Amino acid sequence: MTNTEPLILGIESTCDETGVALVRSTELLGDVTATSMEQHARYGGIIPEIASRAHLEAFLPTMRAALEKAAVKLAEIDAIAVAAGPGLVGSLTVGISAAKALALATGKPLYGVNHVIGHLAVDALAEGPLPQQFVGLVVSGGHSNLLDVRNIATDVRELGGTLDDAAGEAFDKVGRLLGTPYPGGPHVDRMAREGDKDAIRFPRGLAGGKDKEKYRYDFSFSGLKTAVARYIEGMRKAGMEPNPEDVCAGFSEAVNDSLTGKAVRAAKDLGYDTIVVGGGFSANSRLRELLSARAASAGLQVRLPPLKYCTDNGAQIAAIGAALVKAGVAPSNPHFGPDSGMPLTQTHML
Ligand code: KG4
Ligand code: ZN
Repeated sequence: MTNTEPLILGIESTCDETGVALVRSTELLGDVTATSMEQHARYGGIIPEIASRAHLEAFLPTMRAALEKAAVKLAEIDAIAVAAGPGLVGSLTVGISAAKALALATGKPLYGVNHVIGHLAVDALAEGPLPQQFVGLVVSGGHSNLLDVRNIATDVRELGGTLDDAAGEAFDKVGRLLGTPYPGGPHVDRMAREGDKDAIRFPRGLAGGKDKEKYRYDFSFSGLKTAVARYIEGMRKAGMEPNPEDVCAGFSEAVNDSLTGKAVRAAKDLGYDTIVVGGGFSANSRLRELLSARAASAGLQVRLPPLKYCTDNGAQIAAIGAALVKAGVAPSNPHFGPDSGMPLTQTHML
């Protein structure tokens, strides 16, 4: 890679991770992430004010460490990308304020980017440039969406999403039912691996009757979560303790059956040959296994980010920033603010 490609500084502060990364084209030069998760864990959820304060405290040390890791100076940066949404307003505001100060001090262009699209863009850093068109499956604590990506910088369309809970959220709730620490997702995943996925058959949302066509690319996990709660309750009422590994395995199978089945269907419908997955839930072992198997039988490629880049990080922000710069997109109007509900079809702030 030549040094003539623009050098992008990426800043992430949508939730509890403070991330800073340096990317040149599709090469990750260095990145550092700090998290305030241990401060939230005892509350069983993210406390926004604690998260905002933690970003403020972590930002400068994290940025300095990232610059050092990448062996670059602030003056060498060509553009700055910062997550503008979706996320927690207070958390986003800290990152955006820092990015604006840096843009003013360095005179470099600033892009307010979509954090969720970043979850897909980050894959380019691991596996090389993304294909022009692909189906994006974004799965996290807040999102479960299927996207028709025609150009990651300029043309992203929404095929469908969850009608209620996101996949990660459903896992966290089932974790709570079974008494795991927060967030429950990784614990439920671990227990599921030790259970029998066929021992308990839980329902798949929107899979039958009229719903199947009407919600072709949508998901629904709240009925499933209720079915799991009822099963546990029923067993306990009958004086038995449910087998947590089998509950997790059956539940995980139902979630991942829906996610992978619909992602493959979308790719086939659109005639695309690639599915790109992103978001915290893409660390889920059964999702990775089942999607790889189903895609292979359908003759499709699957691109799954390495585990390190599944959870929120600065590299995903720098990666979408690099894609915007490469596509010749104009920087954001410097007056932009955080957009907690930034639409997935909007790759950056205008
Ligand atoms: O993308 P992310 O870091 O933050 C959001 O933007 O939401 O995703 C975090 C979510 C949490 O719900 C967490 O429990 C879930 O991803 N998660 C997992 C696994 N690893 C993280 N869920 C299931 N299996 C996993 N291995
Ligand atoms: Zn995320």
